[in-house]
Amino acid sequence: MNFRVIEHPLVAHKLTLLRDQLTPTVLFRDLVEELVMLLAYESTKDIEVVPKKIQTPICETEGVSLGEPQPVVVPIIRAGLGMLSGMLKLLPSAEVGFLGMKRDEQTLDNVTYANRLPKSLEGRRCFILDPMLATGGTIAAAARYLTDKGAKNITSIALLSAPEGVEFLRKSISSKINLTVISASLDDRLNELGYIVPGLGDAGDRLYGSVD
Ligand code: URA
Repeated sequence: MNFRVIEHPLVAHKLTLLRDQLTPTVLFRDLVEELVMLLAYESTKDIEVVPKKIQTPICETEGVSLGEPQPVVVPIIRAGLGMLSGMLKLLPSAEVGFLGMKRDEQTLDNVTYANRLPKSLEGRRCFILDPMLATGGTIAAAARYLTDKGAKNITSIALLSAPEGVEFLRKSISSKINLTVISASLDDRLNELGYIVPGLGDAGDRLYGSVD
């Protein structure tokens, strides 16, 4: 498992606005979209391209286009949905799958309660969208699930990460799973309620309002 924090003044600036409890929902959503675009730019540095001949108004030249099969973007319901528009602005030809993960209260394992994925993930590049890497349980379960379905290379994009979650992924993700996590920040810790500190609160609530 590789973990990388993107250090960039624009990322830090937008993240500060995002964390601010006075930032209203409408601005919060825009900031998430903008941050995801910046993180997606870094996350796709090594994406496969194939040569492509084109004709400019001046001459023939060779450029590149994204290789087939197209990458798959998988937002984790609910908060990951807020990251989808930013990702698709950068990768409009990607296919989109959806995963809903929750904790089984008996076994404490993360289980998939909803999935809608492309028919085949065989050999495909996948991008998981989940804004908060807190305990790491969701990302670990999602990465295992996608790998079992054939995904060959998985990048998980996070806004904030807790050291506890990163450590959990380092210990629990087997070498058979090709996972990289790209995050806008590595925060201080998790609190006793499982929130990232200093964090930004509940990402789903800040994107969509609270649900009882
Ligand atoms: N999920 C959130 O939305 N916020 C946290 O701080 C941790 C997990």
